[in-house]
Amino acid sequence: MSLIRLRGIGKVYELGLARVTALKGVDLEVGDREFVTVMGASGSGKSTLMNIIGCLDRPSSGVYELDGRDVSRLTDSELAAIRNRKVGFVFQTFNLLPRVPSWRNVELPLVYSRVPAAERRTRAFAALGRVDLADRALHRPNELSGGQRQRVAIARALVNHPSIIFADEPTGNLDSRTGLSIMALFQRLHGEGATIIMVTHEMDIALHARRIIYLKDGRITGDERIKKPKHADKELSKMADLEEDELTEAIEKHS
Ligand SMILES: Nc1ncnc2c1ncn2[C@@H]1O[C@H](COP(=O)(O)OP(=O)(O)OP(=O)(O)O)[C@@H](O)[C@H]1O
Ligand SMILES: [Mg+2]
Repeated sequence: MSLIRLRGIGKVYELGLARVTALKGVDLEVGDREFVTVMGASGSGKSTLMNIIGCLDRPSSGVYELDGRDVSRLTDSELAAIRNRKVGFVFQTFNLLPRVPSWRNVELPLVYSRVPAAERRTRAFAALGRVDLADRALHRPNELSGGQRQRVAIARALVNHPSIIFADEPTGNLDSRTGLSIMALFQRLHGEGATIIMVTHEMDIALHARRIIYLKDGRITGDERIKKPKHADKELSKMADLEEDELTEAIEKHS
């Protein structure tokens, strides 16, 4: 059984008299433990699709089954309950509270699901450990680098033990090396059993997933399996080797 099953999903935004059709008849299945990227031009409907799959919004038409349950017609509070239990979100702009320590940012989803304070703290610290930031738990986001901020946001997405992690352009605000380190983290989480659905504009980033879905004008125009995904850890160590060689060369020239 597929974890996610979309049948004929459409989305129309109504703005006064204007109507924007953002999705048209989208059929899609995603299995448990997949790592999928969604690509497409600006305005093609990527975020709209993510918001529907992530239970942040409802489709205008079609059927969406999550874990075998039809969630297309739920009320706001029913959707919120599912979101709390099943999904974690990571955004391009991190969406962290800048003046609150990392661990308090990470525990927020647990506050919404009424987990007791002591357990929240333990789980927040554990989630920060999973993204290698145990030693930054007391730092505030405005005292962290961009890559570290995104890792705090990923820890926040993980803290509820979600079935699916959604990431909308998680590397969009990061330099290429830091972006690669976020891909290395996603690849590790995927190896540990996470299901990940990620939007990106960059093919270099998309090729770290196992599958790419292409959207154009609100329709799926391609669905491709990646036989040999790029290995972010290897790319990072290659980068480090190249820099080492350059340094050695420069030092030799001067001596
Ligand atoms: N809340 C909204 N109200 C009205 N129209 C919207 C809303 N959100 C998105 N749209 C419209 O729906 C279409 C798809 O938007 P969407 O945000 O899904 O695109 P996207 O592929 O994520 O683009 P980008 O790469 O720029 O983030 C666009 O034409 C957009 O203007
Ligand atoms: Mg978008």
